[in-house]
Amino acid sequence: MSDSNKIYIFDTTLRDGEQSPGVSLNNHEKLDIARQLQKLGVDIIEAGFPMASQGDFEAVKTIAENVKGVTICGLSRAAFNDIDRAWEAIKVADQPRIHTFIATSDIHLQYKLRMTRQQVIEAAVAAVKHAKKYTSDVEFSAEDAFRSELGFLCQVLEAAIDAGATTVNIPDTVGYATPAEFGQFIKEIREKVPNIHKARISVHCHNDLGLAVANSLAAVANGATQVECTINGIGERAGNAALEEVVMALYTRKSLFNKTTGINTREIYRTSRLVTNLTGMKIQPNKAVVGKNAFAHESGIHQDGVLKERSTYEIMNPELIGLNVNNIVLGKHSGRHAIRDRLAELGYVLDDSELNKAFEKFKNLADKKKEVTDEDLVALVEEEIRSI
Ligand code: KIV
Ligand code: ZN
Repeated sequence: MSDSNKIYIFDTTLRDGEQSPGVSLNNHEKLDIARQLQKLGVDIIEAGFPMASQGDFEAVKTIAENVKGVTICGLSRAAFNDIDRAWEAIKVADQPRIHTFIATSDIHLQYKLRMTRQQVIEAAVAAVKHAKKYTSDVEFSAEDAFRSELGFLCQVLEAAIDAGATTVNIPDTVGYATPAEFGQFIKEIREKVPNIHKARISVHCHNDLGLAVANSLAAVANGATQVECTINGIGERAGNAALEEVVMALYTRKSLFNKTTGINTREIYRTSRLVTNLTGMKIQPNKAVVGKNAFAHESGIHQDGVLKERSTYEIMNPELIGLNVNNIVLGKHSGRHAIRDRLAELGYVLDDSELNKAFEKFKNLADKKKEVTDEDLVALVEEEIRSI
């Protein structure tokens, strides 16, 4: 498959994901997640919004300094001081990207920005040109694109590309689109923006109607080549398109999409657990791909089928997402290595002293319990190690 079949995965867990109500990650946790995203093989990590706070700035800078071999992106409004701040944070990255945005829907222009359409075009162009002075890799987003008047949106995109944007992002900011409409929307943008071939088309779908993944896939089928998503689908309100669902849909239905991603699917489960553990946002048991029940077969008929031939009721092999199917039982005879490996699978990378403590606690527990479960291990680390 040639590179023209590649779908770029832009992960925004640390930016839009962190905007989930109740989620607040410290720098150490953000760095752990960024390192794991790099292992997962995402193409772009949106590390944060440096202008939002000193904490955000520091976190993005730390990630840019320490996570190499992947594009590190900082978000900024279409304002020079935002862009300057984003650049300060990401400039040491191997591959820095500035992501600048402004809303294009009339509803946002009238009530939020209080700007005319002409002013929005001018601000977008000025922002892209300013960002371009720092880096060749500039992404422009038209916030609330899907609720924007198509002709005006196309004008903004054309101007942004002329100004130097190398990626143009089409967000469904409020999760209002349906798949057929959103696919058609992307198709029309490709037809109506004359210089669109000079930029990568990206989509960024929110999940207010539970359609973020379906809308992203419809966009891919119509020519989008970058998908913005988050681990476990976390994000503002009902969240963003879930990375693991987009990636496994493209993988499982390869013959339908004829697209590939650079994701190492075997790191999916581990990444999902890490994000769950660090954000405290639990996922529902029936969540696609990474939920506790995603590969569980309860009914007798299904169990019988799977035992005879897995593909009767399984469209993905759990090992593909890095799920431990060997189910090594952890008990009092288990060694330090087994505990360390299982904890890593659960998303906990412990330093030596934490591992020593965890191992001691594990042994105490294993003396009282025949089998120590994953839930026991998570509780042990959360309550006895990380809370100290
Ligand atoms: O949802 C949205 O429109 C955004 C933009 C900043 C890309 O998050
Ligand atoms: Zn968003």
